[in-house]
Amino acid sequence: MSEQTATFPDLKDKAVLITGGGSGIGAALTEGFAAQGARVAFIDIAEAPSRALADRLAGTSRHAPLFIHTDLKDLEAISRAVAQAEAAHGPTRVLVNNAALDDRHELLDMTGEYWDENHAINLRPVAFTAKAVAPGMIAAGGGTIVNFTSTSYMLNIGSMPAYTAAKAGIVGLTKGLAGRLGPDGIRVNAIAPGWVMTERQKELWVTEEGLAAMIDRQCLKRAIEPEDMVGPCLFLASGASAMITAQVLIADGGMM
Ligand SMILES: NC(=O)c1ccc[n+]([C@@H]2O[C@H](COP(=O)([O-])OP(=O)(O)OC[C@H]3O[C@@H](n4cnc5c(N)ncnc54)[C@H](O)[C@@H]3O)[C@@H](O)[C@H]2O)c1
Repeated sequence: MSEQTATFPDLKDKAVLITGGGSGIGAALTEGFAAQGARVAFIDIAEAPSRALADRLAGTSRHAPLFIHTDLKDLEAISRAVAQAEAAHGPTRVLVNNAALDDRHELLDMTGEYWDENHAINLRPVAFTAKAVAPGMIAAGGGTIVNFTSTSYMLNIGSMPAYTAAKAGIVGLTKGLAGRLGPDGIRVNAIAPGWVMTERQKELWVTEEGLAAMIDRQCLKRAIEPEDMVGPCLFLASGASAMITAQVLIADGGMM
């Protein structure tokens, strides 16, 4: 497991909003930004792990992270959540779109309803959280947005067409948002993780053989942990990446 060692002084006291920040990679991001001294708010639908995370970090962080229970499928709820985060912390200066649902689904059984529901979680919120934070970011003089895509959409994986289409869409959206918001001092980038060993992955899909096969394809011969996504995200969120926008950073141990 990697240890996050870098400090980004410009993230101290920054208002950061993370979607899906209650478990998996998102929980590592919430902890990682809190450890930088940022004012973190995180949206999640999973009550128990999110409360537990917020409680655990409250005692050790410069600013106790604020958990906002919100279903990202609900566009009005997204607006309310952003308003709640901004009432607590001021205008959002860093937005991390991390939430997703990577359920497997069979093409031949797929309904229009399933497709819409999938994209209402995996793609649409990326646009509407950006829309919701943009006025505050612009008024504050700028900001950064980091969107989580996935290497999976580049690997011709057959078991989740709606998910991989959404993840490809996030790259297009990242570039479109970067073009629209760049003149206002807002940078928009994406991170494409490889296979990250979250609790959900381990419970549902990781097998010894599957993991060994993935590590065999990576240049770096160990499993990727949620904490490995923190450094790349802090970097893209901070002024250390000041002239980087509209880019996708692949963090996969050299598998691609
Ligand atoms: N784990 C991996 O191997 C992997 C690989 C490539 C890309 N990614 C990407 O990284 C990001 C994080 O992945 P993860 O594996 O940690 O995911 P996860 O499923 O473990 O966690 C996602 C979080 O989002 C929350 N969430 C889901 N639906 C929501 C909704 N409707 N409203 C609010 N919150 C909701 C969940 O409760 C959860 O806390 C995702 O964008 C994913 O596509 C993950």
